[in-house]
Amino acid sequence: MSDPAWVDVDSYFDRLFVGEDAVMAEALRAATAAGLPQIQVSPTQGKLLHQLARMVGARRVLEIGTLGGYSAIWMARALPADGRLISIEIDSKHATVAKASIERTGLVSKVEVRVGAALDLLPSIAAESVGPFDLTFIDADKVNGAAYFEWALRLSRLGSVIIVDNVVRGGGVLNASSDDANIRGTRRVLELMASEPRVTATAIQTVGCKGYDGFALAIVTS
Ligand code: SAH
Ligand code: DHB
Ligand code: MG
Repeated sequence: MSDPAWVDVDSYFDRLFVGEDAVMAEALRAATAAGLPQIQVSPTQGKLLHQLARMVGARRVLEIGTLGGYSAIWMARALPADGRLISIEIDSKHATVAKASIERTGLVSKVEVRVGAALDLLPSIAAESVGPFDLTFIDADKVNGAAYFEWALRLSRLGSVIIVDNVVRGGGVLNASSDDANIRGTRRVLELMASEPRVTATAIQTVGCKGYDGFALAIVTS
């Protein structure tokens, strides 16, 4: 399910609003060279994450699912001098590539990549009281999304923003009786975001160079 026009319009927006960006291009090159899957956010989505971080005045950012550090670098660039981003990655090869790319950006003092399963590492992040996080980007496995959202909420403050990536599953999210664990997990986190009284949330479908997809966004209200 992809239309050539989606890709062409995305390229046009990319040229207008992102343009030549040597830092981001180098991070992508390194990830590709290392054979990482090319599933990072698109350039325009990365710019949106950057803008959202600025809109909330983020000083603390949490990411679940680092891959090669592409989205982490976009968000870390929005941080003030004393800002901090913690990104969690289960795959040590992905984390090694991400750390190397982050070192090349000069953001190294602001960004920490932690290696492990998110559900194993989130309790220690909570115990350290490095938060609250002003922005959380949930972009790891799609099975545990609801548990990640609950942790993100616990680590948030009033006004924090929590984003969940890839909530459309090619339209499969409609299938309430699906036996696909990703669809079931996605439906679970969406239903939690919709029913949780401490947030106000919405979900948006997207098209572009990543095909047909979407994200959900919650603002913590109490
Ligand atoms: N946010 C990245 C893309 C992340 S892709 C970007 O846009 O640039 C999803 C990543 O989540 C992969 O690197 C995968 O290894 C990682 N992941 C999968 N399951 C995980 C888990 N249980 N805990 C932490 N990371 C996980
Ligand atoms: C996949 C994961 C992502 O986070 C994404 O944005 C796109 C694709 C995947 O696992 O295929
Ligand atoms: Mg994603």
